[in-house]
Amino acid sequence: MSDLEMPPAPACAFASDNAAGAHPLVLDAIVRANEGHALAYGSDAWTAETEARFRDLFGPQATSLLVWNGTGANVMALAAMIRPADSIVCSRWAHIAVDETGAPERVLGTKLQTVPSLDGKIVPEQLLELEYLIGDQHHAQPGVVSITQSTELGMVYSPDEVAALCDTAHRLGMKVHLDGARIANATAALGGTVDALRSFTVDAGVDAVSFGGTKAGMAFGEAVVFLDPELARRAKFIRKQVTQLPSKMRFVAAQFNALLHDDLWIRLAQHSNGLATRLYDATKGIDGVTYDAAPQVNSVFPMLPAHLIEPLQAWCFFWPWDVTRDQVRWMTAWDTTADDVDRFAAGVAALCAAG
Ligand SMILES: Cc1ncc(COP(=O)(O)O)c(C=O)c1O
Repeated sequence: MSDLEMPPAPACAFASDNAAGAHPLVLDAIVRANEGHALAYGSDAWTAETEARFRDLFGPQATSLLVWNGTGANVMALAAMIRPADSIVCSRWAHIAVDETGAPERVLGTKLQTVPSLDGKIVPEQLLELEYLIGDQHHAQPGVVSITQSTELGMVYSPDEVAALCDTAHRLGMKVHLDGARIANATAALGGTVDALRSFTVDAGVDAVSFGGTKAGMAFGEAVVFLDPELARRAKFIRKQVTQLPSKMRFVAAQFNALLHDDLWIRLAQHSNGLATRLYDATKGIDGVTYDAAPQVNSVFPMLPAHLIEPLQAWCFFWPWDVTRDQVRWMTAWDTTADDVDRFAAGVAALCAAG
């Protein structure tokens, strides 16, 4: 294999949508916001506009608070949702459980209760299985369920699935948090409209959303959107306590204003989702590549011959996923091109053919 002549590598890697830069319109917005002085901590015109945009998206009762990053958004949202002695229920794949270095446990002093899942989704029956804990003083009390949309394995909950989870959670006295680091991709997958966004959030009964900006095309910044007004009451204090209050907030807000203008966030997600499907179509027939499922958003999760993973990564980088199954993740971003995908698929085919 060392003599194998690989085709030209793609211009961009398939590591993550986080590996992409910021969209030019987002960068322009930062530059345009860099005029003179504006009051700090959100008392500026850009933040007022962002808050109005989020109310347009989710309804007049929605309260949005801008934060620095996705882990911070999740920690802050959850901090506003839990009561003393509560636990947070989530899938075993949940970013809050496996990729946040224990931040929710450390910062909130809470217990994360993970439940099994193959694709990152959880179902109402899994909440019902925990009902026996409620009221027993020896157990943390399931107080919040956190779901990820789209999931860490690139799957999308239907609006009905989210509504069923919310119904069960609320009947059990639990709140529902949605980690929407890739909410743009889920919205695009479910129809690409504001109604689609509402169908699996506010209409389904979700109480709070971590709304992703960075993966969607921003340089940094996310929002926590409280759909249950009661949860928002003390949120601004909690944001500061968990170190997520940006002082020059206008630069986060200006980015969101650019991204949310004219549905740019949805259009970029439609683009990256479409290229994941193109990648799946171009690789699913290659001998040695197998898939559990077709992509629903901007990532594919193939199983590869184990000995080919490192050479392929050396040629064009991507992350391993479930190492017990030789499963990897190839992820597209707002700036991935069809040419990148075709070159990458050609490289996969060349390596697999060489064995
Ligand atoms: C599902 C999910 N939630 C949240 C995050 C946010 O993480 P960060 O703190 O790196 O912005 C990510 C980033 O990879 C993610 O994939």
